[in-house]
Amino acid sequence: MGGATSSLLRTSGLTKRFGGLTAVSDLSFDLRSGEILGLIGPNGAGKSTVFNLISGFTKPTAGRLELFGRDCTGSSALTISRMGLVRTFQHGSYMKAMTVRDNILIGTLQRLRGPARRKCVAETAEMLGLTSCLDRIAGSQPHGIQRLVSIAIALAARPRVLCLDEPLTGLNQTEVGGVLGVFQRIRNEFGTTILLVEHNTKAVMAVCDRIVVLHHGQQLAEGPPLEITSNADVIAAYLGPRHDR
Ligand SMILES: Nc1ncnc2c1ncn2[C@@H]1O[C@H](COP(=O)(O)OP(=O)(O)OP(=O)(O)O)[C@@H](O)[C@H]1O
Ligand SMILES: [Mg+2]
Repeated sequence: MGGATSSLLRTSGLTKRFGGLTAVSDLSFDLRSGEILGLIGPNGAGKSTVFNLISGFTKPTAGRLELFGRDCTGSSALTISRMGLVRTFQHGSYMKAMTVRDNILIGTLQRLRGPARRKCVAETAEMLGLTSCLDRIAGSQPHGIQRLVSIAIALAARPRVLCLDEPLTGLNQTEVGGVLGVFQRIRNEFGTTILLVEHNTKAVMAVCDRIVVLHHGQQLAEGPPLEITSNADVIAAYLGPRHDR
């Protein structure tokens, strides 16, 4: 249903109200197969709420969510992750006291059985550059490694759509460069479509094919990076006049 498009995710009029506050307001956007789409905007713009809505962690007040051509409005987080959309959390989510290996294993549990799990852990660790840390306790690792562990758990589920909420927070410039390369490899080698929420504008502009800008829960602009960086509304609301292109 909904026509033959390459759209994996489509929201129509998606709205989430918390009492008198409208966190996401009448939002309609598409995520196209194979793209890296950036979702950016000021603090409180509604980005994480969009993640909660599309991953089934919260139910919309109004509007519709379509995933892989099916109406998933109101579907549970479990249903949506089984369908192939997996998300990370802004503040990271992994088991501090467990090894990196056992953390990544968590991501395989729903989809795989037996030796296939070990293989998937090894491949996921290789993709993220975590192979040498597999036997270390996750919580004892440097911040950059901990961010990667959260991503690895999500990636180990081999989602068709991977949603990353501020994965670059706290990383230095070298680490950011490395992780952006990893995002491209994930897309190119696993065919994963990526939705990226991130405040590091330079990184977003470098890695994303297309960007949606949120402001006060509403879509302010949508387009390729060059169009977004020169959009007067986006500059006024978010980027500022001296942003680094
Ligand atoms: N569970 C909730 N109950 C009440 N208000 C909420 C809830 N979750 C989010 N909000 C409010 O909704 C608005 C959007 O929040 P959200 O976390 O989605 O923004 P964000 O774009 O992710 O911001 P940031 O860049 O700081 O992470 C904010 O005003 C926030 O305070
Ligand atoms: Mg957020």
